[in-house]
Amino acid sequence: MRTTLSTLQKMRDDGEKIAMVTCYDASFAGVLESAGVDILLVGDSLGNVVQGEETTLPVSLDDMIYHTRCVVRGSNTAFIMADMPFGTSQITPEDTFQNAAELMAAGANMVKIEGGEIMSETVEFLIRRGIPVCAHIGLTPQSVHQLGGYKVQGESAHQAKQLMIDAVALEKAGASMLLMEVVPAALAKKITKRLSIPTAGIGAGVDCSAQVLVLYDMLGIYSGKKARFMKNFMTGAESIQVAVENYVKEVKAGRFPGPEHGF
Ligand code: KIV
Repeated sequence: MRTTLSTLQKMRDDGEKIAMVTCYDASFAGVLESAGVDILLVGDSLGNVVQGEETTLPVSLDDMIYHTRCVVRGSNTAFIMADMPFGTSQITPEDTFQNAAELMAAGANMVKIEGGEIMSETVEFLIRRGIPVCAHIGLTPQSVHQLGGYKVQGESAHQAKQLMIDAVALEKAGASMLLMEVVPAALAKKITKRLSIPTAGIGAGVDCSAQVLVLYDMLGIYSGKKARFMKNFMTGAESIQVAVENYVKEVKAGRFPGPEHGF
């Protein structure tokens, strides 16, 4: 049976850490879930690591539907989250629903949408119509040009306050999960404590309910510079399966990420 939203909420409530990894194809979906990964994120990072693009902006809805189908076909038990690519959710709630519905029809269990409180109306529209949403705040790669690069978010008091406002507004709108990317660990901890839904972190410290890494980064295939929050789990592992098992063990035990991976 597939992991459900209620299972994830219960894990969060029981203090059990959730292990999440990005996944783009059927073969890796099988390896990741048999190694104990709870959530497979069909991330639009496939634009970078699969398609060789500089940013995630060129990824289309059709690309996401194709890769979601591949991941769904290759897995039986993991929860499947799919990214809404650039331009497919920064529109009217009605049009966003149509796009999200295509990802759900492809087998996703939840969609992920980048953006802060401004996305609240859209989040509410989707969840009222049966589509669970993970809201993604902090470093939102689809806004890289607006942000002026891939930088830590929430370091100034003003930014930190805004991220807290975003998190609370998105939970109130009905988001079932909140993903924080590259934000100071202390802020992610504060936000996690404030919310009742599971949080997921990438470069956001050890206190989030879930941890996520890009698959290729955790296997030591870095496209460009190795960011501080990445860890190569292939080091000392005799196979990909073992590397992923080690990642899951470290996440569940609260040993990954360490302070050296945070901000
Ligand atoms: O697309 C992706 O891989 C993501 C992660 C960086 C969280 O959104």
